[in-house]
Amino acid sequence: MKKILITGGAGFIGSHVVRLFVNKYPDYHIYNLDKLTYAGNLENLLDIENKPNYTFVKGDIVDDEFIQKLFSEHIFDGVIHLAAESHVDRSISNPMEFIFTNIVGTVNLLNAAKFNWKDNMDKKLFYHISTDEVYGSLGDTGYFTEETPYDPHSPYSASKASSDHLVRAYHDTFGLPVVISNCSNNYGPNQFPEKLLPLFIHNIRNNKPLPVYGKGENVRDWLFVEDHANAIDLIFHQGKVGETYNIGGNNEWKNIDLIMLLCKIMDKKLGREPGTSKKLITYVKDRAGHDLRYAIDSSKLQRELGWSPSLQFEEGLGITVDWYLSHQQWLDSVTSGDYQKYYEAQYVKRER
Ligand code: NAD
Ligand code: DAU
Repeated sequence: MKKILITGGAGFIGSHVVRLFVNKYPDYHIYNLDKLTYAGNLENLLDIENKPNYTFVKGDIVDDEFIQKLFSEHIFDGVIHLAAESHVDRSISNPMEFIFTNIVGTVNLLNAAKFNWKDNMDKKLFYHISTDEVYGSLGDTGYFTEETPYDPHSPYSASKASSDHLVRAYHDTFGLPVVISNCSNNYGPNQFPEKLLPLFIHNIRNNKPLPVYGKGENVRDWLFVEDHANAIDLIFHQGKVGETYNIGGNNEWKNIDLIMLLCKIMDKKLGREPGTSKKLITYVKDRAGHDLRYAIDSSKLQRELGWSPSLQFEEGLGITVDWYLSHQQWLDSVTSGDYQKYYEAQYVKRER
């Protein structure tokens, strides 16, 4: 039985990847290593937690001794590394967490893999999950390809860029078999409501202001989270060692247009008079260093591995809204306690 270590599996994307692998590969044993920060939630995995091929391990990738011990106790065949601090706004208010987890944590995993895999590297794979934000910001035209030079602007994207460079350095210097993918904005069930879509769904439902940064003119390329998980499955099994693959939805939306569409969908789903939710839109101070536009060219992944997104955006958005509306208890539990303090610090002083 192959042993696969998935880090960050209790988070948003990680939980979809863990579920996919546990259900699709009964001959793999999936170890989900997660620190359970504010963003990690084992409720995301209730449906698979008792499966015989699944084990949860609570731990911190920054803890070098713990990581070395874990790798010496289990002979992992592969690592899919998703654990990270992932929210740009938090990286602006507290960069150090991002440096520790995203950079030091990644190097701890690379060191453990390098040391424990030295005798049979050719049968192993270290798969690092990254973001399109490492490429910086686009103007009105063009796309990020795998050749686009790195130009990160936030502490989050700079920490992810740094981890990408280190992963490549371990391949080039030590021969560690690695693969990297850089994906655009994900949406779907189980995303922590600090990110645009779940936050705005939650606020519309509770008649709270919708804080649009700047003029709402920034553009993001949205991909349904299960399509990202399917791409990760494909790249893990068929990707070429040493290569990078871009993953994107070919689905660009200006923030304000997306928010208008969401308001329309929410009015309908909540049985409100058309035009009710958009009255909640409140323009607030822009995010510092706010990247204008992200857009991914995923033609390499489509051409070489035959991947394509499965869902039309309006269908995916409808599924997502339905999920949050029918999981009020999930939202209530993740938005109690510390969330309130975060929300106040992030938004109350931001109104202009
Ligand atoms: P998330 O914040 O929802 O989840 C991160 C998970 O990592 C949480 O379960 C958290 O508990 C865990 N974690 C954090 N620090 C840890 C540590 N020190 N040790 C162990 N576990 C720790 O993030 P997400 O949105 O699911 O993103 C997952 C990965 O995908 C990240 O690497 C992110 O950079 C990348 N990514 C995200 C998106 C997106 O749109 N969300 C797009 C492209 C790439
Ligand atoms: O592109 C991939 C990245 O997408 C991932 O690497 C990150 O982990 C993920 O968080 C996401 O980053 P963004 O900064 O694009 O996502 P966020 O949901 O925070 O914001 C989306 C856009 O909406 C962005 O232009 C900022 C804007 N925004 C966001 C929030 C939270 C607002 O206008 N108001 C808000 O309250």
